Amino acid sequence: MQKTGKTMTFTRYLLSEKPEYRSRIDQLSDEAWPVFLLNGDVHHWHLLFETFSAYQILFIDSAGVLIAAGHTVPLTWDGSLSNLPQTIEEILLRAEQSHLQNQEINTLAAVAAMVSSEHQGQGISSRLIQEMKNLARQHAFTSLIAPVRPTWKSRYPLTPMEHYVKWARTDGAPLDPWIRVHWHLGAQPLCIAPNTLTVKGSVDQWQEWTKMIFPESGWYLVPGALQPVQIDCERNIGRYEDPNYWMKHPVG
Ligand SMILES: CC(C)(COP(=O)(O)OP(=O)(O)OC[C@H]1O[C@@H](n2cnc3c(N)ncnc32)[C@H](O)[C@@H]1OP(=O)(O)O)[C@@H](O)C(=O)NCCC(=O)NCCS
Repeated sequence: MQKTGKTMTFTRYLLSEKPEYRSRIDQLSDEAWPVFLLNGDVHHWHLLFETFSAYQILFIDSAGVLIAAGHTVPLTWDGSLSNLPQTIEEILLRAEQSHLQNQEINTLAAVAAMVSSEHQGQGISSRLIQEMKNLARQHAFTSLIAPVRPTWKSRYPLTPMEHYVKWARTDGAPLDPWIRVHWHLGAQPLCIAPNTLTVKGSVDQWQEWTKMIFPESGWYLVPGALQPVQIDCERNIGRYEDPNYWMKHPVG
């Protein structure tokens, strides 16, 4: 299936059709996320590749280069806010449980979307979300839900998430570009997910991950973090919680 972004052509595959792209996805991940985020409390990431490879969307160009990847998992959700998974780990575990217990699966949950840095700003992420919606539709699910990690929030780490997600441009569209992509495609806001992933490490580890020095205990603004990181030099521990914004795409 050939697709076009604003300026380029690529083909959409599922990882189950191209298992040899597994290590390329890891490379894209390493490029897409701040290092500290790759050290969070997510222990079942491997399910994406082992159990749910038919739900991993890949965009590959004519030279065979992976230009974007979208991670999703199928799960059971009763439609209420209280039944939303709280963390990325919980999304993965819910999907595994729904699968193992043969529950009626009705929802596709997005876990991550990544576009390689050379191809960003060309509208490719929008195509990725559309493909997630198509996948949900093909499985006759009723919705696609996404814990959206707002890409500009790291520019405003002191602003509470509750305020940030409401900021809008003069044309009424959300200020944050990534929330805006979902909004343009018809997503509705659900609620804040205050902590989808916790990163804990020693002070040395945090210094290594961030290339910063933390001479004393306190709250620090760290590049790529959506809110401050707490460093406790006496206990030799640094802690960060990654907030997201749950949004829901109807899949008609
Ligand atoms: C977030 C990400 C997927 C967006 O992908 P993308 O293909 O570059 O995004 P698009 O080209 O579709 O642009 C999305 C919006 O951001 C805006 N935008 C893109 N690049 C921009 C830039 N450098 N500066 C300002 N705005 C920018 C676009 O104008 C667009 O808004 P609009 O449609 O209202 O005009 C990509 O940046 C990425 O992989 N980032 C790292 C991983 C990540 O943060 N993923 C999202 C959380 S899961």
